[in-house]
Amino acid sequence: MNHHVPDTGTVRAAIGLALRAPSVHNTQPWRWRVGDRTIHLYLDPGRALPEADPDHRDQLLSCGIALHHLRVGLAALDWQTKVHRLPNPNDPTHLASIELQAGEATAHDIELAAAIPRRRTDRRYYSSWPVPESSLKRLAECAAQEGTLLTRTDAFDYLWAAIDEAARTHSQDSEYHTELALWTGRNGSPDGVPAANIASSKSTDPLPARRFARATLPQPVGARADRDGSEVLVLSTPSDDTMSRLRAGEATSAVMLTATVLGLATCPITEPLEVRQTRDFVRMNVLDDSGFPQMLLRLGWAPLNADPLPATPRRHLRELVTDLHGLPWTA
Ligand SMILES: Cc1cc2nc3c(=O)[nH]c(=O)nc-3n(C[C@H](O)[C@H](O)[C@H](O)COP(=O)(O)O)c2cc1C
Repeated sequence: MNHHVPDTGTVRAAIGLALRAPSVHNTQPWRWRVGDRTIHLYLDPGRALPEADPDHRDQLLSCGIALHHLRVGLAALDWQTKVHRLPNPNDPTHLASIELQAGEATAHDIELAAAIPRRRTDRRYYSSWPVPESSLKRLAECAAQEGTLLTRTDAFDYLWAAIDEAARTHSQDSEYHTELALWTGRNGSPDGVPAANIASSKSTDPLPARRFARATLPQPVGARADRDGSEVLVLSTPSDDTMSRLRAGEATSAVMLTATVLGLATCPITEPLEVRQTRDFVRMNVLDDSGFPQMLLRLGWAPLNADPLPATPRRHLRELVTDLHGLPWTA
């Protein structure tokens, strides 16, 4: 091993893990450029969701998650990272430049990286088992390390009202439906949310799920909305600029991967944060105006008899990675 420059197999493996990152509607809104000792992350504006995500917040969060996945993957492969976020004021799509330095992996780096291929968005009902306080504390610490605040909320009435109102707003928007049909409920595509990963749910559920175009994932036998012991975690930042959203993505990744290590299922709920009025409502009523909500995460134990979920597809590395000149990366 060359201690100054990682070999292409290492870079390939680490970016391969970053590409497993969850993203809004599985849009995978990222591109990567690789130099000898640096990797650069770019936002791909061509993968925007103008109806669901008009201010690109979910896109930035998704890229922040991919950035953290990359950091985790490299650390497990014995490469520490120095991240320069938003390094180029003339190019707002250049989200991060990641410098690499040799550094031995810790057991924690390895367990987080091993969680990446195992993590799934689980939209089914969860069991009634409570989430241990020690796990909630550990997740809050992970979020704090990434400069964000993770709080558990029991303001379910307010959350339900926000989710319901956002869904009602979207239901009246025909362009939102066209976009949703383009990106969700499909099978056999390298992007978008497959119908096989979408569980049917009811708008009367204590925490109604986003209504996707088509749902074919069965609920586990005996699982019921009224016995679902999910916690809802609110991840927030003190400000609401591009940097805050990128950091919120990194924190979301840290929380999701740690939850996976702890055996817990997770599901993002962002519809109420995509509509300005309902996002303001969540900020005022769930966070008492103490920060900007960036992500709502449902967390809990999947029922004991729940089948493993299929992995959602991803685009291939060769479509997404170039060298520093924008030419195909030949690794
Ligand atoms: C920023 C962001 C917002 C998301 N919002 C929702 C949501 O509102 N409802 C939902 O069911 N899934 C949501 N997801 C989950 C994605 O649909 C999921 O990550 C993607 O389909 C890939 O599947 P996987 O997470 O199982 O790998 C969101 C993910 C991200 C990163």
